[in-house]
Amino acid sequence: MTHDYSRSRQLYERALGVLPGGVSRNTVLRRPHPLYASKGEGCYLTDVEGHRRIDFANNMASLIHGHAHPVIVEAVSRQMQKGTGFTFATEVEVELAEHMTRRSKGFDKIRFVNSGTEAVMCCLKAARAYTGRSKIAKVEGAYHGLYDYAEVSQTAQPANWGEAEHPRSIAVAQGTPASVLDEVIVIPFNNPKVALAILDRHAGELACVLVDPMPHRIGFIPAAAAFIEALRKWTRQHGALLVFDEVITYRLAYGGAQEWFGEEPDLTALGKMIGGGFPVGAVTGRKEVMEVFNPLAEKVLFPHSGTFSANPITMTAGLAAMEYFDREQVAKINGLGEAARRQIGEAIRSAGIPACVTGGGSIFRIHMKAKPPRNYRESYVTGEETRLMRALIEHALEEGIILIGTCSGTLSTPMNQPEIDRLSDVLLSGFRKIKAMRTELSAVEQLTGSPS
Ligand SMILES: Cc1ncc(COP(=O)(O)O)c(C=O)c1O
Repeated sequence: MTHDYSRSRQLYERALGVLPGGVSRNTVLRRPHPLYASKGEGCYLTDVEGHRRIDFANNMASLIHGHAHPVIVEAVSRQMQKGTGFTFATEVEVELAEHMTRRSKGFDKIRFVNSGTEAVMCCLKAARAYTGRSKIAKVEGAYHGLYDYAEVSQTAQPANWGEAEHPRSIAVAQGTPASVLDEVIVIPFNNPKVALAILDRHAGELACVLVDPMPHRIGFIPAAAAFIEALRKWTRQHGALLVFDEVITYRLAYGGAQEWFGEEPDLTALGKMIGGGFPVGAVTGRKEVMEVFNPLAEKVLFPHSGTFSANPITMTAGLAAMEYFDREQVAKINGLGEAARRQIGEAIRSAGIPACVTGGGSIFRIHMKAKPPRNYRESYVTGEETRLMRALIEHALEEGIILIGTCSGTLSTPMNQPEIDRLSDVLLSGFRKIKAMRTELSAVEQLTGSPS
């Protein structure tokens, strides 16, 4: 069955005239045109042509309660009538700050911002202000948003990433100053031995080590306890801060993925779900470090403001969302996530294709690789894998399932077992289709004598 997409096509033609590439964010790009949303309700999203699908993309993992959750809609509607932003502080920002600082050990103080990018940027600037050092270390391939320093090596490729023991600092955007690359040290994921050897060469220069406990672009594979412990110990020994990016992973446990490990980071960047569907970010951590933001200090180390930071709409939605995401809801979607990964694994085996599923808690990712990757280099997606992944995503769309473009998905609290069953059924038929594509491809290769 092929759906009618005439309205989306028309909208995209108009969009191409006014938006570069026809989109405001690359995430929504799809060939031959993006799909345009009309309405979201719970875990369902309807496009402008009227096709209704189960939404496992959840606006890039930000909608923990799906679309238009009544508790959030009600709270935000009440606040809308009272105003959307003031040059005054509000009670609700204090309430959300109190909620978040109660939620995780080590969240002594918090500052709200407007995106995950801004949250990571503020963590890095706070670490520099606190330590008086300028360099940062980050994990190869990890996505942390658009800040120049945080994005280094996000798109490293076999041709430029260098030796495994010495990953190179690779710019993402054209024109990135060479000085930015000099300030960013790249370490491999989950390899404490190599990571520490690299860090040792920069001891005394590093403000912080930035790490995501289950990085999306590295395949949604959880950080090993030994890796985090090694970074925690090294940063303490060398006067650097440990910064966690929990923009996505905060959903994985009531107090974030950091609950998995025995120790806390010094600073954490938050975003996505803590805004209840509205643009948000936050920097939180140890009192002494957060003091760099203090505008009442004799010497203000990190002057920090933002017109829309802690606006009452985001704060109201965020408070409603986070209060509703209690331990029971966390356990519910983590249980469903486990079922999803198990059922997807069964579908892969049943179809008999070289693929695997990774993830944790309420997150999954499908790889067109026989074995789960262990780091960025192993998770690197080849041209052939990209083709198969696109085919799987398109098949899922046709069959009423929305996935993220990396073949990943996140769950939302309105989901139940029937949505997971539908997901695995659709994926099973998708895997069978892919198997047929692979067979066709190898037949062509045999005929032509070369990989097509
Ligand atoms: C781990 C992580 N950090 C930071 C960001 C940036 O967040 P935002 O898109 O809100 O700027 C993202 C966004 O996908 C992310 O996944």
